[in-house]
Amino acid sequence: MTATLRPATLSSHPPTPTAPSRPSTGNAAVAITLALRPDFWRPLVRYQEETRWTRLLEDRLLEDVLDPSLHEDLAGAQVWLLSWLPGQGTALHDHGRSAGALAVAHGVLNERVVGAGRGGRRPREAAGDLGVGRVRYFGPRYVHQVRNAGAEPAVSVHVYAPRLTVMNTYRVENQRLEHIGTEQAGVDW
Ligand SMILES: [Fe+2]
Repeated sequence: MTATLRPATLSSHPPTPTAPSRPSTGNAAVAITLALRPDFWRPLVRYQEETRWTRLLEDRLLEDVLDPSLHEDLAGAQVWLLSWLPGQGTALHDHGRSAGALAVAHGVLNERVVGAGRGGRRPREAAGDLGVGRVRYFGPRYVHQVRNAGAEPAVSVHVYAPRLTVMNTYRVENQRLEHIGTEQAGVDW
């Protein structure tokens, strides 16, 4: 993915026309179910040196492995399988208007989470490792950075609902969370 840099501040986002999606335990259930099925993801996953490898998974693949009780959560969702070689990672980003979940299937990923400071307060930050079987689910205002800081490759499953169309990238500068770019589906990934 290639970010198109467009300096702006977080407060400069255009107004959203409808209410954003909410965090969903359904997303988390789909992500962790798939992550804990190496017989499902191992034949599909690939690794590449240049950049993180990603694959958008087709519904027909997912319906075969997911319990029918989770099929409803697939409607309108998007499921990605990702691999991370040591050192590979993302910029600080959100997921546009999508809620989502990520679950670690193999290895360890380090996640840095940044909450925008309000009323002039500095952004709040936390970081930690996510090992196999850990799942994180979040709403559209969630800003994080994910990286494989370990020595072994990592694999993860990501679920977004509604489908991921935009990702905004950020940096923490002068004790503010600044919006620095936007990546768009069909253009940047
Ligand atoms: Fe993300």
